[in-house]
Amino acid sequence: MKELCESPRLFVDGISSHDLNQGQLGNCWFVAACSCLALRDNLWQKVIPDWKKQDWNPKKPNNYAGIFHFRFWRFGEWIDVVVDDRLPTMDEKLLFCHSSSKEEFWSALLEKAYAKLAGCYEALDGGNTGDAIVDFTGSVAESIEVKNTKDSIQRHNLFEKLLKVYNRGGLISCSIHQMEPVSILEISKLQGLRADHSYSVTKVQKVRLGNTADKLSMIRLRNPWGKGEWLGPWSDNSKEWQKISKKERKKIGTDLKNDGEFWMAFEDWYKYFTNAIVCRIINTSYLSIRKTWDEVILRGAWSRHEGPLLNRAGGCTNFLHTFLQNPQYVFDITKKEDEVLISIQQRDKRIHRKEGNGKNLTIGFSIFKVELNREYRLHSPYQKVSGSIYIDKRSVSLRTCLKKGRYVIIPSTFEPYVEGEFLLRIYTDVVSRCRELILDKPEVTCWNIIIRYPRIVTKVHLHSATDLPKQNSSGGMSSEFHPCVNVTWHNLEDLGSID
Ligand SMILES: *[C@@H]1O[C@H](CO)[C@@H](O)[C@H](O)[C@H]1NC(C)=O
Ligand SMILES: *[C@@H]1O[C@H](CO)[C@@H](O)[C@H](O)[C@H]1NC(C)=O
Ligand SMILES: *[C@@H]1O[C@H](CO)[C@@H](O)[C@H](O)[C@H]1NC(C)=O
Repeated sequence: MKELCESPRLFVDGISSHDLNQGQLGNCWFVAACSCLALRDNLWQKVIPDWKKQDWNPKKPNNYAGIFHFRFWRFGEWIDVVVDDRLPTMDEKLLFCHSSSKEEFWSALLEKAYAKLAGCYEALDGGNTGDAIVDFTGSVAESIEVKNTKDSIQRHNLFEKLLKVYNRGGLISCSIHQMEPVSILEISKLQGLRADHSYSVTKVQKVRLGNTADKLSMIRLRNPWGKGEWLGPWSDNSKEWQKISKKERKKIGTDLKNDGEFWMAFEDWYKYFTNAIVCRIINTSYLSIRKTWDEVILRGAWSRHEGPLLNRAGGCTNFLHTFLQNPQYVFDITKKEDEVLISIQQRDKRIHRKEGNGKNLTIGFSIFKVELNREYRLHSPYQKVSGSIYIDKRSVSLRTCLKKGRYVIIPSTFEPYVEGEFLLRIYTDVVSRCRELILDKPEVTCWNIIIRYPRIVTKVHLHSATDLPKQNSSGGMSSEFHPCVNVTWHNLEDLGSID
């Protein structure tokens, strides 16, 4: 790197979102994720460990070994990646990601390490900002569709949500997806914004207008190219800024340079952007002052075997005969109602791209409500209470509210008999005790043969009922009676019919 400049450094004037400029690679998704990362000291210092030691020390040139060390979270664990200091250049300029300062190299080295993880630089072409953020943080990325509705309550709620994620140390990125090919005319309608391009959100804030009490919901974005800004209201040097006192402007830190970073009123953002990815940084540490979560991380696999009792690759609910052959997991909601965040992730396939078999599996999951004492695998359909979509992305997640009770999650691929590994993560407010259901039925032990007392759950379907006491004087019972009631009996001597 000495060949590129006089005094190379890992960081010049600290780290900032402005240090990043995408090079000649279609990896705006990665660069946008780096911009988000640079905003949070506690997060980037995990990815660039011992950064002080790693930096060049002009006073002790002999300490420099020419290697750099980074860490990424992959499939449930932090992996160390070490790279040397040779970077691809053309005409003595960095070819790919580079800082605005010629002497600063953290972004280029981080990109090199990430490319090593993916197999090569080319493998970074095209991707998902959420995936990169997950690799940097080990958090869960949620994809939000921004629906351009007239509903001001929905709009307000979305802003509040983004504000909360931002204020709690989370990372956000956004993009505009257009269904149809974009004409030149439509590009000009976007007022400087780009479709199918990732922007990182570098601030979410309510800004006071003039000396009034009115506050405007605003959002600050950054184009990973380091240029190419929004040209509409509240863009750099637009007349709208006069509505804001100098003091307030200073407070929110408006730096109106042509550096790819710009403000938008949330009302405008909402009109243009169609997708956002939010990564909440979930602090599972019980010491944390912020909301703590119970986190369970489980690894599993869809594996193909002969015979319905052994097969563990059953496909989605469209394949009723095989669906329940998938791996099954049980968890409890012990509060009256709890918000649950569930994610399944498959292994990153980028590294296999060159060999031509780098396709993601189509994955998803369903959630069923079961008996409170269920300990064995399901063999017949239950009431499905929730589920994700099926999608050929690296991960799929769902946030949902569930009432007190016991639930079974069944992750699956779309088609049966497709093999693969997955990571299941579940976050709840209180302990969920999520675990795999392994046994098909109670084991017949000497003990229960002797006392003939197998512990078993039997589901009984009542199809009709007669001679039941009438409920009230108007005699609603027989007509109102639901024909299929699930009654759960315990300790029944009926080995033959496990549900
Ligand atoms: C897998 O899904 C991710 C999105 O999660 C996408 O960026 C990537 O390109 C997909 N991989 C392949 C090989 O298609
Ligand atoms: C979680 O909270 C603890 C205690 O407040 C803090 O030390 C730690 O840095 C936090 N972790 C993250 C990832 O924010
Ligand atoms: C009696 O049953 C009928 C029909 O099921 C119902 O509409 C009515 O509210 C019930 N009355 C009382 C007092 O519970």
